[in-house]
Amino acid sequence: MDPSTLSPIDLAVIGGSGLYRFPGLENASRRALDTPYGPASGEVVLGDFAGRRLAFLARHGEGHTLAPHRVNYRANLWALHALGARRVIGINAVGGIRADMGPRTLVVPDQLIDYTHGRITSFCDVEGAEVKHIDFSEPYTAGLRRELLAAAAKAGIAVIDGGCYGATQGPRLETRAEIARMKRDGCDLVGMTGMPEAALARELELEYACLALVANFAAGCGDEAEISIEEIFAHLAAATAQVPILLRAMLS
Ligand code: HPA
Repeated sequence: MDPSTLSPIDLAVIGGSGLYRFPGLENASRRALDTPYGPASGEVVLGDFAGRRLAFLARHGEGHTLAPHRVNYRANLWALHALGARRVIGINAVGGIRADMGPRTLVVPDQLIDYTHGRITSFCDVEGAEVKHIDFSEPYTAGLRRELLAAAAKAGIAVIDGGCYGATQGPRLETRAEIARMKRDGCDLVGMTGMPEAALARELELEYACLALVANFAAGCGDEAEISIEEIFAHLAAATAQVPILLRAMLS
């Protein structure tokens, strides 16, 4: 397949937990790409949405078979870039640490702290590759963040502007002490997939922003003694339903 024969992609969306197919994508076709970094999480689905070309990739695979630490983030971003995507929105399920970031809240974070380990965090991690020291002071693209926020306002969807995303290794949820430490560090949200995705996007000079969907209060931040996975997925389903509405407002 020659990517140059395809019409340009206006936006790529990487779906997180609970978003395995993009609703309302018309004339969809699928692209399986070989990448220098191995297989992506699955095929990229290309289609029309709100009169624009959209590329969709399910980060955990369409059957949610890939745990956060096993996602091939490099292959995913390389595949989207090779298909011609230049703007990427990462949809990420998160736990809320800040009191106003309870279940079903949507947040467009503006900062992150990386607590992951053992993941391949750079395209430079190859013998002979050019070493790049990207500026990462602002990990998300300001213009794309603004577009997301403006679209939410246009669609009448409540979204919190800003917040610090703490990326943890998973797949287990965190202890109360870990979340207390993250809170002291300044984290407002906790998720398992925000990194290295954001840094790899920057290395490829992609515009990249995160739309975080709060599935639960992080450990020790809510009233519950334990976090229930059933509740996480129920809250996620409700928050995920807003995603196509918001992105339609953004693209139309
Ligand atoms: N912690 C980490 N990742 C998450 C959480 C959480 O509480 N909820 C959804 N993704």
